[in-house]
Amino acid sequence: MMSETVLEVKDLKTWFFTRRGTVKAVNGVDFVLKRGECLCLVGESGCGKTVTALSILRLFDSPPGRIVGGQVIYKGDDLATCPMQRLREIRGGDIAMVFQNAQSSLNPVFTVGDQIAEQVMVHERVSRREALSRAHALMEEMNIPQPGRALNMYPHQMSGGMKQRAMIAMSLSCSPQILIADEPTTAVDVTIRAQIIHILRELKTRRDMSIIFITHDLSLVKDIGDRAAVVYGGRVVEVAAVEDILKNPAHPYTVGLIDCLPDVSSQDKRLPSIAGNTPNPLEMPSGCPFHPRCSHVMDICRSKMPACANITDVHTVSCYLFGDKNGGIAR
Ligand SMILES: Nc1ncnc2c1ncn2[C@@H]1O[C@H](COP(=O)(O)OP(=O)(O)OP(=O)(O)O)[C@@H](O)[C@H]1O
Ligand SMILES: [Mg+2]
Repeated sequence: MMSETVLEVKDLKTWFFTRRGTVKAVNGVDFVLKRGECLCLVGESGCGKTVTALSILRLFDSPPGRIVGGQVIYKGDDLATCPMQRLREIRGGDIAMVFQNAQSSLNPVFTVGDQIAEQVMVHERVSRREALSRAHALMEEMNIPQPGRALNMYPHQMSGGMKQRAMIAMSLSCSPQILIADEPTTAVDVTIRAQIIHILRELKTRRDMSIIFITHDLSLVKDIGDRAAVVYGGRVVEVAAVEDILKNPAHPYTVGLIDCLPDVSSQDKRLPSIAGNTPNPLEMPSGCPFHPRCSHVMDICRSKMPACANITDVHTVSCYLFGDKNGGIAR
């Protein structure tokens, strides 16, 4: 059964107009997010994951950034163009975000409890006492030991893993329908990482919440994702259920990413990597952005962006190896 769509990103383009030129960071991103699912955005550094996430709530630096095309449909509104007032209601309310390097966004001069309570009071008319008790419950939900004590701590008194969980607690303070978590586990050790993944999975089920989980690490996708969208050169190049992506990857870039997953049984401890470099965002290649690194490259790949083709009705790919060789999109 197909569940309800809660967010739809259509042909989104966010470009940065810098003195050195135009950075087409997000260059035609398409995906849908279903109720209660975790969708992973996965891809190498610089491919546009963070800018995609920031674009949903229009939180990128502007200037130099601007949404030059596309839509972000949420509850009938286009968040790419709706009035700022509407967007402010949605930010931190319906849609919450845990930022990459979240820990540095905690304010060092206030206790963590004050910061969470403040966040609650921005969106809801509740007393400080009520807000603090909400903060306490959230810290418990995040499995933070001695939540009362933790609320009275300043950020520097907390371990990295605790800070990260406090940030997630803060993002959940207004019971968002959608949580966007940008690399929430990169700065923590493996044990804490497993705990955070476990907590997020539980939250998703308990609250019937949708999660957009951003990572460059495919092995994490396996643990948390229901579906995955593979991002390259500011576009989504393949979308499918996580098992499909891992077992039957279609796009040569996805195949490359999977080949780079460390093989625990192997004696060879060298990590393979995809040949070539990620594209210079100031000079995106013509046609398919992956063509300079692709071992299957054909003439058409150099001139025209491939359209999205269906492998199955729930597995799509943008690559001329699949679908109509004439069906490209002129860009
Ligand atoms: N404020 C900005 N001004 C100019 N260019 C920017 C700005 N923010 C991001 N970019 C560029 O946009 C591109 C996409 O960046 P983004 O941060 O979305 O990548 P990412 O996929 O999140 O990478 P990472 O895995 O390293 O976090 C990069 O080339 C980046 O340099
Ligand atoms: Mg990023």
